[in-house]
Amino acid sequence: MNILLSFGFILAMIISSRGSTLANYDINEVCSRIIIRAHNLININAPFIDVCHNDIASETLYTLHTIDGPNLKSNNAKDPNWRPDQFYPNINVDNCYKQLEQNKTLDIILGSQQQREQFIRPSKDMFFARGHLTPKVDGVTDDEQQATFYFVNAIPQWHVINRGNWQELEKVVRALAMNNKIVLKVYTGAYGVTTLPDDKGIYKPIYLGKDRSSGNLMNVLPAPKLMYKVIINENVGTGVAVVTINNPHEYKPTENLCTDVCKQISWITFKIDNITAGYTYCCEVKQLYHALPMLSRFPDPGNLRLMQALFPAMVSAVTSLVTAILSIADVEGIEASSESIAAKDPKEMMLNALY
Ligand SMILES: *[C@@H]1O[C@H](CO)[C@@H](O)[C@H](O)[C@H]1NC(C)=O
Ligand SMILES: *[C@@H]1O[C@H](CO)[C@@H](O)[C@H](O)[C@H]1NC(C)=O
Repeated sequence: MNILLSFGFILAMIISSRGSTLANYDINEVCSRIIIRAHNLININAPFIDVCHNDIASETLYTLHTIDGPNLKSNNAKDPNWRPDQFYPNINVDNCYKQLEQNKTLDIILGSQQQREQFIRPSKDMFFARGHLTPKVDGVTDDEQQATFYFVNAIPQWHVINRGNWQELEKVVRALAMNNKIVLKVYTGAYGVTTLPDDKGIYKPIYLGKDRSSGNLMNVLPAPKLMYKVIINENVGTGVAVVTINNPHEYKPTENLCTDVCKQISWITFKIDNITAGYTYCCEVKQLYHALPMLSRFPDPGNLRLMQALFPAMVSAVTSLVTAILSIADVEGIEASSESIAAKDPKEMMLNALY
């Protein structure tokens, strides 16, 4: 395989913890930077995914990649095996994600098999999948697509959400880049630890990690409380942040980290308030940037205008009437195009491949 993973310059940076409404979650704010390289269109092995990963917590905080809209094709590389490489020294990460192990882990965390069975229901896609952060088909070449199959590019994500609103979000962002032939810079991250009630009604944080040798539970490999994407069009100075809650069982919308601006965004076309599919809301980049401490690792995006519609540069300059017409036309475009991508993307359907 042509993928080279260079454990690039290790930038173990500590970020300052700012006030956050989720401050009671134990999050790791230190990460090493891992650059995943892959052969690109001109067959040069170039950086594709920039990962911020914490070995000790077996946790990836975020990835950064660009979606090359003008060059995206509908190719669909064969899924390689997921690779841990040297980034999970304390746990057998492949094993920790397996259904049987998840069941055993949750039996212990939730206090009983009966309690676990209330939440883990594979027939309803209720289990933790290896959720891609950088999506496979955001890669232009087969090599780039295969480069997404490192465990450092995955987080324990409820499968019903992975194939629900999270997949919808991936599709509309990709369609935005393709239809407008633009390059988008995308940070995809995970934050916090999701919880489920145990057999005594006490909410317990869910970690899938187990010590490699003893098999004892460790508070590592967290199932995140939420995932987010920060999508930026640097050429025209627009951006948006979209947050999806990683818990199909319950969520209290009062916990939003920002003022929801999804209604202003014409290309968010899926059912954002469906909790089972992944409750989703949209933020001005600046607001999320100030709400999540880990985002302060990113270069300050400054004052990005909200990426409201397709053709962001034009829309801001025309009247609202024209804006409305443009958005209707574009929404149709998105649906047509994203369907054809989805049909050729077995990965997003295959994450439920149980061992
Ligand atoms: C895990 O538990 C669920 C019920 O919670 C059950 O349906 C499933 O078959 C179990 N998986 C394995 C591999 O034992
Ligand atoms: C919400 O999402 C779930 C999972 O994708 C789906 O089964 C259900 O039909 C959706 N509900 C509505 C009202 O769309």
